[in-house]
Parts: sequence; structure tokens; C-alpha cells
Amino acid sequence: MGVTLRPGRLLYEGKAKRVLDAGDGRAVMEFKDGVTAFDGRRRDPAPGKGEAAARLSARMFELLEEHGVRTHYICYMGGSRILVERHEVAPLEVIVRNYAYGSMVRRMPFLKPMARLSRPLVELHLKDDERGDPLLLPEDVVEAGLLSWSELDALRSLALRVDAVLESFWRRRGLRLIDFKIEVARTPRGFVVVDEVSGDTMRLVDAEGRHLDKELYRRGGSVEELVEAYRELARLAGAPERLCGE
Ligand code: C5P
Repeated sequence: MGVTLRPGRLLYEGKAKRVLDAGDGRAVMEFKDGVTAFDGRRRDPAPGKGEAAARLSARMFELLEEHGVRTHYICYMGGSRILVERHEVAPLEVIVRNYAYGSMVRRMPFLKPMARLSRPLVELHLKDDERGDPLLLPEDVVEAGLLSWSELDALRSLALRVDAVLESFWRRRGLRLIDFKIEVARTPRGFVVVDEVSGDTMRLVDAEGRHLDKELYRRGGSVEELVEAYRELARLAGAPERLCGE
């Protein structure tokens, strides 16, 4: 692919990733060896997590693209880095749920955790840590001018398509996809899936109900257990195929 990279300026640093400018409309996304939960109130170094999350994200983006979903992924750089296209990210978090869990059960206590939903549920949240990423009504999104009604329809279809692809992929590997979050960018050619798709953003459980995602850590599990679960996910998903420089 002949990727030449200039040492990049830091564009963004979050809790789990660093994004560096790579020139020509591209960026390097570097996954950190650290884990945080509860808005950063629990935080630990997590050696090996960055690479496991990068490999899994790379593979998940490749899988989505194989199924016709556009993503920002260009190629896997090795280690904890992937090369991506730079996009203006919408200030939204798109969550899809197949089972009731987490904040859904907190807001609707009539639902039992892990109750199978009659159909996948798509939620939009405002990406705003200070406000606790509030759940939005479709009307909120349209009135604020973030998306039009037809874009909302398109985003909902995209989210359901991503769910169908991920759900069936993990089911074939013996895991249930409870829910996940994606972020998107709006482009003249439609939405592009950006950010990451990893154990930090999906909840996946095995046949015994054991989590292989960040829930392990949220529930007080050790960092070692978490990193091992992320490695297991990366192993199950297979190695990234689009390597930079090939
Ligand atoms: O906490 P909640 O039940 O709303 O999370 C739903 C899904 O979205 C989970 O898979 C969680 O890991 C993911 N999520 C995320 N980033 C957030 C909030 C939720 O990746 N800021």
C-alpha cells in the first residue's frame, strides 16, 4: 500500500486512545495500555490491552467493510496502531442492544438484565461526558440540526446492519453480542463508521455468561483478567489482513 508517514501532531488524546495526524487526510489511532471506568474514577495501567484492542478493531472494521459498511479504517500498522481516514465525527454515540443490560436496565427497571429484546434497539446519545452522555429523542437530534429525518433513517439502518454483521460473526464463535456502541461521521457519500470496535465498546458473553469485555473490569475484575479476555477476542476474530505497507 506504500504508506509513508510523517511524524504526526497529536490531534486528540482520550482515555483509551491517542490520535496523531498522518498527513493526506489520514490519522494514526494508537490504543493505550490503560483501562478506565466510571468516568475515569477507576483507572489502571493495562500492558497488552492496546495491542489486543487495535488488532480486534482492525479485524472488526475489515469485517464490516467485507459486508459493505464504510468505515474509516485504512490498514493495521502493527502493535497498538491502526491507520484511519480523518473525518469530522458527529457528537453522537449510537448504541445497539440485543439484550437488556447496563444503562437500559437502569432507566427501565422492569427489564431483567440479559432479557432478550424482541428486536434490536437503536439508541442515540449525545457524546458529552459532563452531561453523562444523555439519551436523545430523535426529535432532539433533528431540532438541534444534527441530522435530518432521512439521515436518521439511514443511520438507524446502518446501525442495524452493523448489529447483524457483528452478532452473526460472534455467534459463530460461541459468543453473544449483548450491545455495542459505534460512532459515525457524516460525509457527502453517507455515514462512515469511525472510532473503534473492541472490548471497550461491545459487550460479549460466552455460553457460561462470562464477559469477555470491559464489564469484567467494571465489576471489579483484575487488569490481567481483562487483558486476557481482550486477547481471547482478538484470537477468536483472527489476525488483521490489511497490513500497512503491503
Ligand atoms: O452503559 P450502556 O449500557 O449504555 O452501554 C451500552 C454499550 O455501549 C456497551 O457495550 C458499552 O460498552 C458501550 N458504551 C461505550 N461508550 C460509552 C457508553 C457505552 O462504548 N460512552
